[in-house]
Amino acid sequence: MKERTIRLSVNDQPYERTVEVRKTLADFLREDLDLTGTHLGCEHGVCGACTVVVNGEAVRSCLLFAVQLEGASILTVEGLADGDNLHPIQEAFWEHHGLQCGFCTPGFLLTLYCFLKETPRPSEAEIREAISGNLCRCTGYHNIVIAARAAAEKLASAPAGRRT
Ligand code: FES
Ligand code: FES
Repeated sequence: MKERTIRLSVNDQPYERTVEVRKTLADFLREDLDLTGTHLGCEHGVCGACTVVVNGEAVRSCLLFAVQLEGASILTVEGLADGDNLHPIQEAFWEHHGLQCGFCTPGFLLTLYCFLKETPRPSEAEIREAISGNLCRCTGYHNIVIAARAAAEKLASAPAGRRT
């Protein structure tokens, strides 16, 4: 079994871990760091449930090996809230019923986190395009789109510290 030691930051915490070179980033987050908010659906890049933010980009953690993340800065769903204060995108999902079982939700939140940074005033079509790579089996997407629009408004009017 080949192993390698990596150093990286997850949710602003530094970590150093020795991992098997074949271990995916998703399994590393869940099994080695106990950050089980990153969900695994398809495990081959289709469903978006495993989306996390790596160096500012939304990526599918099932398609990366942990050893590729040496020196990276990663945000998972556990890092979104500020203590007891939900992130504005989380608040919007809660207020607008953007989830049912919640399995897909971490992936949607982090996809939107990156999208809304780049597109702070999106049209409905742009939101639908942005989330087209995330699959939800419960909601029919209607309330997710409403929540995404509400999140954009919240972020636009949030104090500077909560715009990210
Ligand atoms: S589990 Fe990674 S995209 Fe489905
Ligand atoms: S809320 Fe259940 S899969 Fe999306």
